[in-house]
Amino acid sequence: MVGASRLPSLSRISVVGLGYVGLTVAAVLASKGFKVIGVDTDEEKVSEVSLGRCPVHEPGLDVLVRRSVRRHNLSATTDYNAIRETSVTFITVGTPSSNDGGIDLSYIQSASRSIGESLSGKRERHLVVVKSTVVPGTTQRVIVPTLESSSNHRVGESLFVCVNPEFLREGSAVKDMLHPDRLVLGDAGDGSSNLLLNLYKVLYRKKMPPVLKTNYVNAELIKYANNVFLATRISLINEFANLCQLIPGADVNVVAQGIGLDERIGPHFLRAGIGFGGSCFPKDLRAIITLSRELGHDPELIRVTYEVNERRPGVVIKMAEDLLGDLKGRRVAILGLAFKPNTDDVREAPALKLVKLFAEKKAEVKAYDPVAGENAKRVLGNAVTIVDSIEECLRGADLCVLATEWDEFRALRPEHFIGFMREPVLIDGRRIYDPKEFSSKMRFRAIGLGTNDG
Ligand code: UGA
Repeated sequence: MVGASRLPSLSRISVVGLGYVGLTVAAVLASKGFKVIGVDTDEEKVSEVSLGRCPVHEPGLDVLVRRSVRRHNLSATTDYNAIRETSVTFITVGTPSSNDGGIDLSYIQSASRSIGESLSGKRERHLVVVKSTVVPGTTQRVIVPTLESSSNHRVGESLFVCVNPEFLREGSAVKDMLHPDRLVLGDAGDGSSNLLLNLYKVLYRKKMPPVLKTNYVNAELIKYANNVFLATRISLINEFANLCQLIPGADVNVVAQGIGLDERIGPHFLRAGIGFGGSCFPKDLRAIITLSRELGHDPELIRVTYEVNERRPGVVIKMAEDLLGDLKGRRVAILGLAFKPNTDDVREAPALKLVKLFAEKKAEVKAYDPVAGENAKRVLGNAVTIVDSIEECLRGADLCVLATEWDEFRALRPEHFIGFMREPVLIDGRRIYDPKEFSSKMRFRAIGLGTNDG
């Protein structure tokens, strides 16, 4: 067991992988006075952070990065040897999908190897914290052996490893890091999660969230179960949205509100729409489905959650065809491309799938997003014309689909659509518009809203 006298000094921290999670962890710790060094193999990212600039669009993060770099609490490097000078290392590298839907651990493996190499010969104790999302068994089977063989240290002697999954949402990562619902700390039974707990006690002081201490696999599983549970709520309410669309007078928002008042259910993650996207839910569902199958189990409910989500953009296409008939040559305006508001991330964004489906139907698609346009252009190429304003997007269109619920779209009124579009027809894919107001002034359909004509 790790006794208090054996705790490494926690003041110097390294964070390996400067995506939105790593940079948020690094900047929040630095803003609370820890000396933090970010390590990433991407030279451009490292030089941006070193200059105090934030390479990702994440509300509040730019200020924290700028301030922390100016105060010399945050720096960045491509040199893994920097880890040696710290006592705690967070691993926050990506764990994308591999071709078979399983988890690609190549970044985890190379990060673990490089961290181990930089720690070889180091005498002081060091704590490695696995924050990346890894399927159950990865820490014990891959990370620990890689660290041990490359560092020549035994885990549990001078090198300690904890699993500490993150629950940060893109778009509110800083807030989530500052006010987490709970901390999940997994260790090898050597009590090393106490080391990490000490760090969090300094960070959160009197506002310590509830803490769950467990072993590696349960900590790894909790992360997947969390994301799968939330994704399942979304697919379930989306299934009711499909049903509501077939029943005159039905409205999935009212249904969600009603069930959300049941304390056992609660109101969150019940927003029906064109589906979940992003770098986490789809990938994590695929990874846990693949792992389950490898273990000889068919995870039916998780599979269906995923399949229901895959069909969401098709629901909009069907609505569009009901409204306009053949979509060939029709001008379609898509408002929003990011997988959700307040981020420029378009990874697995339902809006992008929607654009592709409209393009397959030979519609002419124009799209606008307040920040994600450039990223979307890289993925979509010629399938879409990305424009710089709502007005440009709507002008001359036969149909508009609201695909991402940015605040600036919420402010639109029927008059804006009527004024700019050739035929004012709107499909609200995220349920941000008042059906009464819009239906009375223009042709209007919405996800989960029953109509008289099906
Ligand atoms: C998600 C989890 O919410 C985080 O807790 C987790 O840390 C993160 O994945 C991760 O694994 O790293 P994130 O993907 O950033 O966070 O975004 P969410 O806010 O969860 O939204 C995911 C998708 O679900 C979005 O496309 C959003 O539009 C959609 N969604 C969300 C709905 O369609 N309906 C809802 O009611 C909620």
